[in-house]
Amino acid sequence: MAPINIIYTSIEGNTRAFIKRLSAYAEQQHALNEDNPLITSKEISDQTIPEDEKEPFFAFVPTYLTGGNGIDSGFTEIMTNALGEYIESGDNAKYCVGVVGSGNRNFNEQYCLTARKYAKQFNAPFLADYELRGTSRDAEHIYAILRDRWNEVHA
Ligand SMILES: Cc1cc2nc3c(=O)[nH]c(=O)nc-3n(C[C@H](O)[C@H](O)[C@H](O)COP(=O)(O)O)c2cc1C
Repeated sequence: MAPINIIYTSIEGNTRAFIKRLSAYAEQQHALNEDNPLITSKEISDQTIPEDEKEPFFAFVPTYLTGGNGIDSGFTEIMTNALGEYIESGDNAKYCVGVVGSGNRNFNEQYCLTARKYAKQFNAPFLADYELRGTSRDAEHIYAILRDRWNEVHA
Protein backbone atom coordinates (compact mmCIF):
# COMPACT_ATOMS: atom_id res chain seq x y z
CA MET A 1 0.00 0.00 0.00
CA ALA A 2 1.37 3.43 -1.01
CA PRO A 3 2.17 5.78 1.87
CA ILE A 4 -0.61 8.03 3.12
CA ASN A 5 0.06 11.65 2.11
CA ILE A 6 -0.73 14.38 4.61
CA ILE A 7 -0.40 18.12 4.23
CA TYR A 8 -0.76 20.32 7.27
CA THR A 9 0.07 23.64 8.79
CA SER A 10 1.17 24.29 12.36
CA ILE A 11 1.61 27.72 13.89
CA GLU A 12 2.49 26.75 17.46
CA GLY A 13 3.71 23.18 16.89
CA ASN A 14 0.74 21.13 18.12
CA THR A 15 -0.23 19.80 14.71
CA ARG A 16 3.42 19.09 13.88
CA ALA A 17 3.73 17.09 17.11
CA PHE A 18 0.59 15.11 16.33
CA ILE A 19 1.75 14.29 12.79
CA LYS A 20 5.03 13.06 14.29
CA ARG A 21 3.14 10.83 16.73
CA LEU A 22 0.87 9.55 13.95
CA SER A 23 3.85 8.82 11.66
CA ALA A 24 5.62 6.90 14.44
CA TYR A 25 2.46 4.86 15.05
CA ALA A 26 2.18 4.17 11.30
CA GLU A 27 5.79 2.89 11.30
CA GLN A 28 4.97 0.50 14.15
CA GLN A 29 1.88 -0.76 12.38
CA HIS A 30 3.76 -1.12 9.09
CA ALA A 31 6.45 -3.17 10.83
CA LEU A 32 3.75 -5.54 12.10
CA ASN A 33 2.04 -5.82 8.73
CA GLU A 34 3.17 -4.27 5.45
CA ASP A 35 -0.44 -3.71 4.42
CA ASN A 36 -0.53 -0.90 6.98
CA PRO A 37 0.63 2.19 5.09
CA LEU A 38 3.39 4.52 6.23
CA ILE A 39 2.80 8.28 6.35
CA THR A 40 4.54 11.00 4.37
CA SER A 41 3.78 14.58 5.36
CA LYS A 42 4.39 18.09 4.11
CA GLU A 43 4.14 21.25 6.21
CA ILE A 44 2.68 24.33 4.53
CA SER A 45 3.61 27.81 5.75
CA ASP A 46 3.30 31.35 4.44
CA GLN A 47 6.62 30.77 2.63
CA THR A 48 5.43 27.68 0.74
CA ILE A 49 5.18 28.03 -3.01
CA PRO A 50 2.19 25.91 -4.09
CA GLU A 51 2.97 22.80 -6.11
CA ASP A 52 0.58 20.75 -8.22
CA GLU A 53 -0.39 17.70 -6.20
CA LYS A 54 -0.59 14.49 -8.23
CA GLU A 55 -1.63 12.06 -5.49
CA PRO A 56 -4.53 12.01 -3.05
CA PHE A 57 -3.82 13.63 0.31
CA PHE A 58 -5.41 14.38 3.67
CA ALA A 59 -5.37 17.92 5.11
CA PHE A 60 -4.74 18.44 8.85
CA VAL A 61 -6.13 21.80 9.87
CA PRO A 62 -5.75 23.58 13.22
CA THR A 63 -8.23 26.35 14.02
CA TYR A 64 -7.42 30.03 14.43
CA LEU A 65 -10.40 32.35 14.28
CA THR A 66 -11.09 35.87 15.27
CA GLY A 67 -14.49 37.46 15.83
CA GLY A 68 -17.91 35.84 15.71
CA ASN A 69 -19.29 33.02 17.85
CA GLY A 70 -19.46 30.22 15.31
CA ILE A 71 -23.26 30.21 15.27
CA ASP A 72 -24.89 33.38 14.08
CA SER A 73 -22.13 35.89 13.59
CA GLY A 74 -19.18 36.07 11.27
CA PHE A 75 -15.70 34.83 12.06
CA THR A 76 -12.46 35.24 10.19
CA GLU A 77 -9.78 32.64 9.62
CA ILE A 78 -6.33 33.81 10.63
CA MET A 79 -2.89 32.13 10.58
CA THR A 80 -3.90 29.04 8.60
CA ASN A 81 -4.78 30.74 5.30
CA ALA A 82 -1.65 29.47 3.50
CA LEU A 83 -2.96 25.91 3.83
CA GLY A 84 -6.34 26.85 2.33
CA GLU A 85 -4.65 28.71 -0.50
CA TYR A 86 -2.41 25.70 -1.17
CA ILE A 87 -5.42 23.40 -1.48
CA GLU A 88 -7.22 25.95 -3.65
CA SER A 89 -4.25 26.23 -5.99
CA GLY A 90 -4.55 24.59 -9.44
CA ASP A 91 -6.34 21.25 -9.24
CA ASN A 92 -5.11 20.41 -5.73
CA ALA A 93 -8.59 20.41 -4.18
CA LYS A 94 -9.53 17.44 -6.39
CA TYR A 95 -6.88 15.37 -4.61
CA CYS A 96 -8.01 16.28 -1.10
CA VAL A 97 -9.72 13.07 0.08
CA GLY A 98 -10.39 14.05 3.68
CA VAL A 99 -9.94 16.72 6.32
CA VAL A 100 -8.93 16.26 9.98
CA GLY A 101 -9.50 19.19 12.33
CA SER A 102 -7.83 20.20 15.55
CA GLY A 103 -8.56 22.90 18.06
CA ASN A 104 -9.48 23.50 21.65
CA ARG A 105 -12.94 22.67 23.02
CA ASN A 106 -12.85 25.85 25.11
CA PHE A 107 -13.83 27.57 21.86
CA ASN A 108 -17.22 25.80 22.04
CA GLU A 109 -19.16 26.26 18.79
CA GLN A 110 -15.99 27.37 17.04
CA TYR A 111 -14.24 24.08 17.84
CA CYS A 112 -12.49 22.86 14.66
CA LEU A 113 -14.55 25.21 12.53
CA THR A 114 -11.81 25.88 9.95
CA ALA A 115 -11.50 22.18 9.13
CA ARG A 116 -15.29 21.95 8.80
CA LYS A 117 -15.22 24.95 6.49
CA TYR A 118 -12.45 23.39 4.35
CA ALA A 119 -14.35 20.10 4.12
CA LYS A 120 -17.34 21.92 2.63
CA GLN A 121 -15.30 24.24 0.46
CA PHE A 122 -13.16 21.46 -1.02
CA ASN A 123 -15.93 18.87 -1.11
CA ALA A 124 -13.98 16.38 1.01
CA PRO A 125 -15.25 14.39 4.02
CA PHE A 126 -14.56 15.68 7.53
CA LEU A 127 -12.94 12.54 8.93
CA ALA A 128 -11.98 13.25 12.54
CA ASP A 129 -10.95 15.82 15.11
CA TYR A 130 -8.66 15.96 18.14
CA GLU A 131 -7.67 18.55 20.72
CA LEU A 132 -4.32 20.34 20.86
CA ARG A 133 -1.45 17.82 20.48
CA GLY A 134 -3.78 14.82 20.58
CA THR A 135 -3.22 11.63 22.57
CA SER A 136 -1.92 8.16 21.72
CA ARG A 137 -5.54 7.05 21.52
CA ASP A 138 -6.28 9.84 19.03
CA ALA A 139 -3.33 8.68 16.93
CA GLU A 140 -4.56 5.07 16.90
CA HIS A 141 -8.13 6.06 16.16
CA ILE A 142 -7.25 8.57 13.44
CA TYR A 143 -4.71 6.23 11.81
CA ALA A 144 -7.44 3.59 11.45
CA ILE A 145 -9.80 6.13 9.86
CA LEU A 146 -7.13 7.37 7.42
CA ARG A 147 -6.10 3.82 6.49
CA ASP A 148 -9.71 2.85 5.68
CA ARG A 149 -10.29 5.96 3.62
CA TRP A 150 -6.92 5.50 1.87
CA ASN A 151 -7.88 1.94 0.90
CA GLU A 152 -11.13 3.30 -0.57
CA VAL A 153 -9.48 5.99 -2.68
CA HIS A 154 -6.71 3.66 -3.88
CA ALA A 155 -9.09 0.78 -4.69
C1 LIG B 1 -5.41 33.06 18.67
C2 LIG B 1 -5.96 31.65 18.75
C3 LIG B 1 -7.25 31.40 18.26
C4 LIG B 1 -7.78 30.11 18.31
N1 LIG B 1 -9.04 29.90 17.85
C5 LIG B 1 -9.59 28.65 17.95
C6 LIG B 1 -10.93 28.43 17.52
O1 LIG B 1 -11.64 29.32 17.05
N2 LIG B 1 -11.42 27.14 17.60
C7 LIG B 1 -10.69 26.09 18.10
O2 LIG B 1 -11.17 24.96 18.14
N3 LIG B 1 -9.40 26.29 18.53
C8 LIG B 1 -8.85 27.54 18.47
N4 LIG B 1 -7.56 27.74 18.90
C9 LIG B 1 -6.78 26.59 19.41
C10 LIG B 1 -5.81 26.01 18.35
O3 LIG B 1 -6.52 25.55 17.22
C11 LIG B 1 -5.05 24.83 18.96
O4 LIG B 1 -4.19 25.33 19.98
C12 LIG B 1 -4.24 24.05 17.92
O5 LIG B 1 -3.73 22.88 18.54
C13 LIG B 1 -3.08 24.87 17.36
O6 LIG B 1 -2.35 24.07 16.43
P1 LIG B 1 -0.83 24.42 16.06
O7 LIG B 1 -0.03 24.46 17.36
O8 LIG B 1 -0.38 23.30 15.17
O9 LIG B 1 -0.81 25.74 15.36
C14 LIG B 1 -7.01 29.03 18.85
C15 LIG B 1 -5.72 29.29 19.34
C16 LIG B 1 -5.19 30.59 19.31
C17 LIG B 1 -3.80 30.83 19.86
